[in-house]
Amino acid sequence: MASITHSTQLILPSLLASDWSKVGSEVQRAEAAGAQWLHLDVMDGAFVDNISFGPQMVQTVRKCSSSLYLDVHLMIHRADHYLERFLKAGADNITIHVEANYDSSVTETLRRIRAAGKHAGLALHPDTPFEAAIPYAHEIDLLLIMTVVPGFGGQPFMEKETMPKLAAARDYRSQHSLNYHLEVDGGIYTHTAPIARKHGANLFVCGTSFFGQPNAAEAMKQLAASVA
Ligand code: DX5
Ligand code: ZN
Repeated sequence: MASITHSTQLILPSLLASDWSKVGSEVQRAEAAGAQWLHLDVMDGAFVDNISFGPQMVQTVRKCSSSLYLDVHLMIHRADHYLERFLKAGADNITIHVEANYDSSVTETLRRIRAAGKHAGLALHPDTPFEAAIPYAHEIDLLLIMTVVPGFGGQPFMEKETMPKLAAARDYRSQHSLNYHLEVDGGIYTHTAPIARKHGANLFVCGTSFFGQPNAAEAMKQLAASVA
């Protein structure tokens, strides 16, 4: 997946925490700091209690960088209805939530993402057990274990609720010879990322801990070192 396997650790800056008044330079700041992937949070005000942005922002970011891998996290109902727009906008991976509503189904939506030549991710809310992902384990390139209740940046890492689930997802992967990446999202800092790493995560979404820092290169260096 974007030429990396789940044994590669990556720090993914989350655009949600950037300064949207200068989004182009924020994207460049992430890239210059060494980011290879950028995380984009799409919220619909229905599946989660917040509204962020849609396909047009994904397209804007794609215009700012042709090389960044765009990891689009859809916190929306009816992701299947909106899918083509996000694909066309330039998403490389599209992650959908198992708890959301679909016109078709979770399986159908994941298959359509892959049929378009993109990577498909499945996300689990902190309250959702790992078992909910099992029917889709062969259909995904990435499993996102939410480490906060989705909807807002800047919330504390839910260690007790989510780390056993992450370890279960890692163990299931090796028992079934699967290859999905394990991503964590929410409250990831230099002190929490190593905990998630220990339980199997290899993709670390960092909003506040990256874009909230004045020196992006230094933030990236320290976050990367914390999971090396
Ligand atoms: C939360 C989003 C996250 C958010 C993380 O619903 O999915 O990607 O940007 O922000 P921090 O890193 O500040 O917790
Ligand atoms: Zn996210």
